[in-house]
Amino acid sequence: MRSARQETLAVHAAARQPESTPAAVPLYQTSMFTFTDLDVFADAFSRPDGPVTYSRLGNPTTRALEEVMSALEGGRAAMATASGMGAISTVILSLLQAGDHIIVQQGLYGGTLALMRDLAARWGLKMSLVDVDDPAAIAAAMTPTTRMLYLETIANPMGQVCDLPALAGWARRNGLLSVVDNTFATPILYQPLRHGVDVVLHSTTKYIGGHSDVVGGIIVVSDPRLHRTIWERGTEIGASADPFAAWLTLRGLQTLPLRVERHCRNAGILAHRLAAHTRVTAVHWPGLPGHPSHARAAAQLAGFGGVFTFDLAGGAEAVRSFTKRIELVALSPSLGGVTTTVLSPRSTSHSRLTAEELAAAGLGEGTIRVSVGLEDPDDVWADFVQALAAHDHARSRPDPGRRPAQPDLPETGGRHAAS
Ligand SMILES: Cc1ncc(COP(=O)(O)O)c(C=O)c1O
Repeated sequence: MRSARQETLAVHAAARQPESTPAAVPLYQTSMFTFTDLDVFADAFSRPDGPVTYSRLGNPTTRALEEVMSALEGGRAAMATASGMGAISTVILSLLQAGDHIIVQQGLYGGTLALMRDLAARWGLKMSLVDVDDPAAIAAAMTPTTRMLYLETIANPMGQVCDLPALAGWARRNGLLSVVDNTFATPILYQPLRHGVDVVLHSTTKYIGGHSDVVGGIIVVSDPRLHRTIWERGTEIGASADPFAAWLTLRGLQTLPLRVERHCRNAGILAHRLAAHTRVTAVHWPGLPGHPSHARAAAQLAGFGGVFTFDLAGGAEAVRSFTKRIELVALSPSLGGVTTTVLSPRSTSHSRLTAEELAAAGLGEGTIRVSVGLEDPDDVWADFVQALAAHDHARSRPDPGRRPAQPDLPETGGRHAAS
């Protein structure tokens, strides 16, 4: 190389393997690896844990993320994907085929529902949306072509917590694969694979990454054969995570247990305060005693999660005013980061639902979803109070003869109990 010309030298920099071990997982930001032996390719293309050749098939940084997520979920293997939707579509496209039927939990993330509906219309997938708290409805949905039961640990956004061990057992007895989106719970609050579920997936964009700076997803399983199928077809589709995204995700993941514990605590403080506020007609958080899933969530999960929704008196107009007035809290389409965010599910995460589906999910004109961050909850509360008070003030403005609006201090009575 010493005799090579400038152009050649410039493109042939090489990092030497250090003699000591790096404390942080290195970023292998490379699309390809080089070899001296042609036979390596056959090995690399035939198994998910083979030698790394090409980063769509495998990359050391991405594998580090897959290994730590497998360990946290109590699984055996994982495939990191480019997004949460990449994980969901990979699971469906690699484990089902045209004509197969899937039983889907009613009231889950709108993007999942939109994907399944699209696959049903264009690729012949069949789907039934079912209230998974109703065993008779689930049994009635079974058909000879049913292959999969699809659930969320804590459903987005209303917080339904279904009986996962019972549903996973029922799926197994009936020869169905059970798939659980564990994004809202994270493995800190629940590990579905330890309770009989076959496939767990995440949008790592949310709590796993945790800092709103990376988009990603992951699929975790216990059965190596299932993993191999998902890896073969997932890499064929091209769903694989980029190493830089995996590296950022790994960095965020290191504080996951601490963050989740604090997200849950802060969510509890704000959910309770909002439930007693005069402008709020209901708060939906499984940690509140009035939530339909409260008892199950308390028994099944290690915490109630950092997301809740609340219904604002005054419908769409009130939501518009509230989301314009918030200052510290951000109006944003995502969740699970260190900053508190709000959105109207009807206009973002669940915008593709029909009017009937919105009604079935309980998403009204006045519904706001809150992803509670790691700020001091008193500061977030102060922002909520001023934004709610501003709305009250705006409503009172056209009638100068009216008494001034009540100061927006929370009420303590049970009038605004959670629903
Ligand atoms: C529960 C859940 N699953 C999956 C997704 C999709 O994830 P991504 O946006 O990373 O594709 C989301 C996004 O909001 C979600 O809330």
